[in-house]
Amino acid sequence: MAPLSTMSRALARSAMKQATTVRTISSTPAVLGSSSTFSSPFKGESKSTKVPDFSKYIAGKSSGNALFSYFMVGTLGAISAAGAKSTIQEFLVNMSASADVLAMAKVEVDLAAIPEGKNVIVKWRGKPVFIRHRTAAEIEEANNVNVSSLRDPQADGDRVKNPEWLVMLGVCTHLGCVPIGEAGEYGGWFCPCHGSHYDISGRIRKGPAPLNLEIPTYDFGEGDKLVIG
Ligand code: FES
Repeated sequence: MAPLSTMSRALARSAMKQATTVRTISSTPAVLGSSSTFSSPFKGESKSTKVPDFSKYIAGKSSGNALFSYFMVGTLGAISAAGAKSTIQEFLVNMSASADVLAMAKVEVDLAAIPEGKNVIVKWRGKPVFIRHRTAAEIEEANNVNVSSLRDPQADGDRVKNPEWLVMLGVCTHLGCVPIGEAGEYGGWFCPCHGSHYDISGRIRKGPAPLNLEIPTYDFGEGDKLVIG
């Protein structure tokens, strides 16, 4: 019986040891709970995720901001307007005619230098202009034509400001050749390109040209000056 009691004691001791271990493990949460500083980020507010206080950076009055906005908008508007004005001004200056072009826009002719019964050709805007100092006989001849019989009916009086002076573009109305003066069947101008005849008033009388020679804009200036253009 002695070994049995020894075994029983050993078993009892072992059981007691196991009970102590179980007690120790089961008491661990209580020990941790009383001394731990851990705090879950999901419970309550954490120091690391606190939003800083920016209240001192927020403008106290909204009128200050509005004033600044108005100032900026006004300044940018003024700068843009000045830039636009400068650009448009430069564009218009570039578009305007240069001095030499303006000089060509009008041509002044001294009529005193043209004897009666003579032709003079001047260049105006790149085209020839015929100026004829007509004689009394030529004026009479021009007026004696039956206007209704003309291809391009026009009285001589409608083509001149002063009957003595016939001023017209020296460009054939057919295809643009320059007619020859004091030639042709009507004592006026003749276009050799295709045979058009113009009379002493520059009206088409024969040939393929459909219209009379064109009269440019002109005026008589002071003295014996003729201004074309
Ligand atoms: S261009 Fe003068 S007649 Fe043809």
